[in-house]
Amino acid sequence: MSCDLQLLANEAIRSLHPYLPGKPISELERELGITNIIKLASNENPLGCSPIAKESIMNELAEISRYPDANGYYLKEAIANIHAIQIDQLTLGNGSNDVLNLIARTFAGPGSEVIFSQHAFVVYPIAAKVVGADAVVVAAKNFGHDLEAMANAITEKTRLIFIANPNNPTGTCLYKDELKKFMQSVPENVIVVMDEAYYEYVEDDNYPQTLTWLELFPNMIITRTFSKAYGLAGARIGYSVSHRDIAGLLNRIREPFNVNSFAMAAATTAIKDNQFLEQAVNLNKEGMNFLIKQLQELELTYIPSKGNFITVNMGSDAAPYYQKLLHQGVIVRPVANYQMPNHLRVSIGLMEENTRFIDALKMVLSDS
Ligand SMILES: Cc1ncc(COP(=O)(O)O)c(C=O)c1O
Repeated sequence: MSCDLQLLANEAIRSLHPYLPGKPISELERELGITNIIKLASNENPLGCSPIAKESIMNELAEISRYPDANGYYLKEAIANIHAIQIDQLTLGNGSNDVLNLIARTFAGPGSEVIFSQHAFVVYPIAAKVVGADAVVVAAKNFGHDLEAMANAITEKTRLIFIANPNNPTGTCLYKDELKKFMQSVPENVIVVMDEAYYEYVEDDNYPQTLTWLELFPNMIITRTFSKAYGLAGARIGYSVSHRDIAGLLNRIREPFNVNSFAMAAATTAIKDNQFLEQAVNLNKEGMNFLIKQLQELELTYIPSKGNFITVNMGSDAAPYYQKLLHQGVIVRPVANYQMPNHLRVSIGLMEENTRFIDALKMVLSDS
């Protein structure tokens, strides 16, 4: 064949780099000749999910031949009740990732600009570029969002701003006053996405409760997920809360069956299981405190994190450390693709997993 198939793609798609998925654990174990690998690489919930959510999935099996409820009625009702919002403010997605893409497709396009921070979540540049918009990356300040610089980057072409709070992979957090001041400076025809994937882990009175700001800032969209604290990453389900007109627009282009029935059934019960959520958040706190103490003893610097992960500065190229940890049976996440070549991101695991990571780290450091 003489035709270069790559050249048939849209220019924007050609500029993207494919997501590099990790190998399945069983395959890695076979390749490395080790067993008992632990994965602290994807900010998953080490406890699994709520037992009643699991039960809901099993019950839903009886209806597998039916299409899911395209409107997500019961789930929307459960979310609306918990957050004291209206059902028509909600948009459901196949993970919050899906919603982020819906937002970009709805509000950005060729000739428009999408602003986000350096070291911000990897999906933002993809979402912007896929729709042909220009990605405007604003230099970070202490690994976090520099809101003043982001406000200064707004032009008449700006349609969309993505903010991750807390951010992945840095774990940095923005607080009430600075965020409100920023929102007040954003023109009302620019949409601001508050990506709150790690919302449930943040225990800080100064963390903004942005759901209560929606009336003040109707140009704001808040995204949340069931993948992290609720432990349903494999089910793929997330949502956004916004002004009802914005939700109406997002729902126009949403595939009617973008969320499967098992995910909806699980999320509908998971959101009511406060006991599981509390357990997950407490375990995370315990693990985070343990890792911080250990990293300090090892004299490694880290970025203080409000999420369920911590990003550690290895002091030099982190790639060899990543490989050596892998050979010790511990998978962490290199973040060179976030312009952080010396850092490794480690998800908080069960206490025995955290201990194993530290033991492996000590071994790797003494070996270097
Ligand atoms: C900041 C942030 N936003 C959104 C997501 C997407 O999560 P999901 O699509 O599983 O809801 C993630 C996942 O890692 C994330 O870290």
